[in-house]
Amino acid sequence: METFQDRTAVVTGAASGIGRALALALARRGMKLVLADIEPGPLGDAEKEIAATGAETLAVPTDVSSLPSVRALADQAFTRFGAVHVLCNNAGVAIGGALQEARHEDWEWVLGVNLWGVIHGIEAFVPRMIEAKQGGHIVNTASMAGLIASKGLGIYNTTKYAVVGLSETLAKDLRDDGIGVSVLCPMGVSTRIRESERNRPEALGGGSAADSGASNSGASNSGASKSHGGPDLVGRYLPPEEIAAMAVEAIENGRLYIPTHYEGLEFWQRRAARIGESFPKPPA
Ligand SMILES: NC(=O)c1ccc[n+]([C@@H]2O[C@H](COP(=O)([O-])OP(=O)(O)OC[C@H]3O[C@@H](n4cnc5c(N)ncnc54)[C@H](O)[C@@H]3O)[C@@H](O)[C@H]2O)c1
Repeated sequence: METFQDRTAVVTGAASGIGRALALALARRGMKLVLADIEPGPLGDAEKEIAATGAETLAVPTDVSSLPSVRALADQAFTRFGAVHVLCNNAGVAIGGALQEARHEDWEWVLGVNLWGVIHGIEAFVPRMIEAKQGGHIVNTASMAGLIASKGLGIYNTTKYAVVGLSETLAKDLRDDGIGVSVLCPMGVSTRIRESERNRPEALGGGSAADSGASNSGASNSGASKSHGGPDLVGRYLPPEEIAAMAVEAIENGRLYIPTHYEGLEFWQRRAARIGESFPKPPA
């Protein structure tokens, strides 16, 4: 996508971390911003910060795990600004712990936000973006955990591998519609991801259930902190602003993959080599 000026971007998970930095970076490029997040207080603060750049903003409290909520977000975005050109499906939560110990609620919560959240974004926005025939770009936030697996990070890995696969296919499916796709794959970023439990619904083991220790031990903040980004993934912790700048550059240049840490390359190459070595030899 070549032009940002006066076009409209929607960012989910915009109240904190990578989403907030992405929204700010896009506003500074002249975009109008629709900010979506489940946390109304921080969402209001983010809106003030982004409006201070002079950008037109609209903040919409949204639960990305709910299709009606994301459809309502799309309705408000199209009603206010007439079109949407950049969609950042970024909201996400992290959980740690061995798969054999995962509770059904752990799966439901993390898949609901990290995978269904992205699917809902596509369902609610993409047909309308195609219909508008103005082109555009979609950024799905996955993770390095979508490219390599780590012990104790299985639920998160499952969602992020799915987001990488979905994005790769979406890029092919949308090629003729002039809509680009990028998949953001960071390692450590200094955000509140390790406090993801703050947004966990009570019905899915959050709130008092999580506090009382009833949830999977790996789902506690400290467990998620140790497991998320586990030993294989740990590298530098980058500021979210650096990640946002890489994403904006990828939108501008139509790049599909946005790996953010050089430290990750060797791990990915080892995985690719292990898969490569497992293929049968061609018949002689
Ligand atoms: N921080 C890292 O090290 C890192 C690494 C790789 C990938 N990521 C991914 O980056 C994305 C952004 O996370 P972050 O690191 O900025 O964390 P963060 O916790 O600072 O921000 C995530 C935002 O998503 C919001 N959110 C949570 N559940 C939601 C829901 N159901 N509906 C709408 N919004 C919801 C939160 O309120 C928060 O504002 C996530 O997809 C995460 O998996 C983060």
